[in-house]
Amino acid sequence: MTRKIILLLFLLKGILTTSFAQHQNEAMADYRLPDVMLAKSGIRISSAAGWEKMRRPEILALFEENVQGKTPAKKIPLRFVTISINYDALNGIATRKQVRVYFSKSEKYYMDILMYVPNKRTVPAPLFLGLNFGGNQVVDADTGILISKGWVPYAPQPAYINHLGTEASRGIQRNDWPVEKIVAAGYGLATVYYGDIQPDSVNSVNAGVAPLFYKDGQTRPAADEWGAIGVWAWGLSRALDYMETDKDIDAGKVAVVGHSRLGKAALWAGAQDQRFALVISNNSGEGGAAITRTKYGETIALMNKAFPHWFCDNFKKYNDKEDELPIDFHELVALIAPRPVYIASASQDQWADPVGEYLSAWYATPVYGLYGLKGLDTIVPPDVNHPVGEGAIGYHLRKGEHAMTQYDWDQYIRFANRCLK
Ligand code: GCU
Repeated sequence: MTRKIILLLFLLKGILTTSFAQHQNEAMADYRLPDVMLAKSGIRISSAAGWEKMRRPEILALFEENVQGKTPAKKIPLRFVTISINYDALNGIATRKQVRVYFSKSEKYYMDILMYVPNKRTVPAPLFLGLNFGGNQVVDADTGILISKGWVPYAPQPAYINHLGTEASRGIQRNDWPVEKIVAAGYGLATVYYGDIQPDSVNSVNAGVAPLFYKDGQTRPAADEWGAIGVWAWGLSRALDYMETDKDIDAGKVAVVGHSRLGKAALWAGAQDQRFALVISNNSGEGGAAITRTKYGETIALMNKAFPHWFCDNFKKYNDKEDELPIDFHELVALIAPRPVYIASASQDQWADPVGEYLSAWYATPVYGLYGLKGLDTIVPPDVNHPVGEGAIGYHLRKGEHAMTQYDWDQYIRFANRCLK
């Protein structure tokens, strides 16, 4: 039986309990999700005020304690230095700026924002903001873009030598970042190399910004303090701090977007920082949009083993114990309400559990309902290349592999045109 038919059967069988066959001889998984509307006190949430005062803070605290870890409350003074401006970028349609954000008085800690702002506009531009994987220079072949200095984990030669970007890395991920398309649609685009904030390696916890927040004598984050996903999400919020100072940008209309592990970071940034007006998860999978109790594709244990530095140490308690986690990832999506959210899967990306990604959007729907907003209409995921969601939640399953493509961006722009502009 296909997973869809099985899902339908279980829709008939009951609410919140569902089950479906696992691919390729994996065992059947039955699961019961934590009820997003039921507060710890036993009170059932029935209003937006109840959600905001009681249930939302509870859920946020549970993610902080058990999954991504706490983001330090301490504010550090930022310094923004504009390094370059080209008013005639992309054949004249955009202004390209590069802004260095210093995190401390020393020159050691900084991230570089590469941004494009449409030249044709009468008001400050709405903006897509996302971290990139290969250094800012991978976004476009323009030789004016600074080559990010950070260590790059997946670093094939000749684009990288000793894990550092070379001239040959310019523009190599331009397909992930269709800058002309985004600018032509009236949006700005800003991106930061994620390794500027913390290198993506188990041994690099102290090579990023985390030590700036240590107490005296502390040498690594405590079990309930942030992992790399939390650090990257923090960096996204600091980029938004900069946007609030840039008159070309409408900081009230910033969409945070990310692919894969950076989609996990985008969701967490959007969940915590309610200034983000729209949140977009591209193939974020386990630890991102996907329900973990499906135990399909990547699991908590597999992810914590391969990437022990991504989440807080407490998350390891749930290796092979998904059902003991006091929350599930539909509640991460719910934390974004009432702001619009878009979740995208890819048909060949079973590792990220497309059905699980869809289900978390579906199970977050009642929270949007508290605000009188429409979420998804049905528990049954749509066919490939049939985007759904006319309300505040959007979803599509793209045909193809784990990637962020032109097709995905077309949907994000369409959704943003309706929900953000
Ligand atoms: C691995 C990992 C995923 C992650 C992905 C990525 O596949 O298991 O959890 O999303 O890398 O970031 O590309």
